[in-house]
Amino acid sequence: MQVSLIILAAGQGSRMNSDLPKVLHKVAAAPLLHHAMAAGATLSPVATIVVVGHGGDEVAASALKFDPDVVITRQEEQKGTGHAVDQARAALEGQPGDVIVLYGDTPFIRAETLEAMLEARARNAVVVLGFQAADPGRYGRLITEGDSLERIVEYKDANEAERAVTLCNSGVICASAKDLFALIAEIGNANASGEYYLTDVVGIARSKGLTATVVVCDEAETLGVNTRAQLAAAEAAFQARARAEALETGVTLTAPETVFFALDTIIGRDAIIGPNVLFGPGVTIESGAEIKGFCHLEGCHVSRGADVGPFARLRPGAELAEDVHIGNFVEIKNAILDEGVKVGHLTYIGDADVGEFTNIGAGTVTCNYDGVMKHRTRIGKRAFIGSDTMLVAPVTVGDDALTGSGSVITEDVPAGAVALGRAKQVSKPGLALKLMEKLRAIKAAKSKG
Ligand code: UD1
Ligand code: MG
Repeated sequence: MQVSLIILAAGQGSRMNSDLPKVLHKVAAAPLLHHAMAAGATLSPVATIVVVGHGGDEVAASALKFDPDVVITRQEEQKGTGHAVDQARAALEGQPGDVIVLYGDTPFIRAETLEAMLEARARNAVVVLGFQAADPGRYGRLITEGDSLERIVEYKDANEAERAVTLCNSGVICASAKDLFALIAEIGNANASGEYYLTDVVGIARSKGLTATVVVCDEAETLGVNTRAQLAAAEAAFQARARAEALETGVTLTAPETVFFALDTIIGRDAIIGPNVLFGPGVTIESGAEIKGFCHLEGCHVSRGADVGPFARLRPGAELAEDVHIGNFVEIKNAILDEGVKVGHLTYIGDADVGEFTNIGAGTVTCNYDGVMKHRTRIGKRAFIGSDTMLVAPVTVGDDALTGSGSVITEDVPAGAVALGRAKQVSKPGLALKLMEKLRAIKAAKSKG
């Protein structure tokens, strides 16, 4: 059975007190919207419709960045969740198969839960995802009779008995495209909010003799983000789950509670991650690599046998081949380091290619930026870059070449050559002793007078 997705992301999220549309606030270095889209993507949907409204251009751009194939539809005025889903009518009406509606601000729905809903759909016209709420608050209440879901009552419209129900609506709903759009066409807005409630499709379905049921999931999965406090709680929930998963899959975390993952972090088995490590988006760490304490990584790849840190920073485009060694206070950006390269201390390597088994001395800087443009530094195989070498790009250092410590290299260095670009040393015999004697005499004269 084919599935299409509708992701609702038109709401303002006024309680975030923010200029940024709510669904673009980040958890685990990714917009909330991307979390919802990632959950939906596990079903391999034939079409994904994202309904945008507040901050529509920004939200649309973010959705398309995650998946260029999504269809964006605009809800000009926010007249309720039912009205929002109706905006996908032109894109999906007449599609065979099922439609699942997700919220862009609800990041943690699991793939298994969506699968369970599709399974239940095989036996019911409408399936709603519910949860037992510890504090039901203002959630919509699910009114059931045995296994049958009879209707959903919004908190504002509920009576005392209905408010006492603790089985609540997550907002996720599944029906065939055919049924969903037929039912939505019948929704009115005669309710406490004057909105077109998506939730009304259940009562309408039942009145037509269609079946409806609830799939119950853990409350943690339905955690929605409406406030900054909930955003922080969502971050904590994500990290707790990511840490547990990393440990489960055979990654050593010395101090799990201090390691922060991104939505897309991939770490191989038997990798070792020290304390206080932060993974930004786009990081892959191969099996057996080690990231020591206090490192900050984003958009980079670390191959097996490599070790990084402590206190190192890998920025986007850092590609470390096998057995590369990166030591403390080293920053690597947009650079490819081949097998066995060593960058031990206090160094910036940006916009560079470094050949295998080359050693980069302490204090080396690739001077990649001339104030207007970025330039590349190319270093060959088995080269030895002396400490405190400034490599003024664009520049090439050949295989097996060596640069003297403290050199400013502005011209290409041929393979096998030694390059020295520094003032020649002069030594004046005895001058240091004389100088000290003179200074002490001056000090003594000052303290007398
Ligand atoms: C909704 C449900 C409620 C459920 C709760 C779970 C309805 C009527 N109520 O209430 O039963 O318990 O979610 O969190 O569906 N949106 C639009 N356009 C609109 C209105 C909303 O795109 O016109 C989007 C919002 O951006 C949000 C989602 O739909 O992502 C839910 O809207 P929200 O206003 O938060 O609904 P709730 O009142 O929380
Ligand atoms: Mg809400």
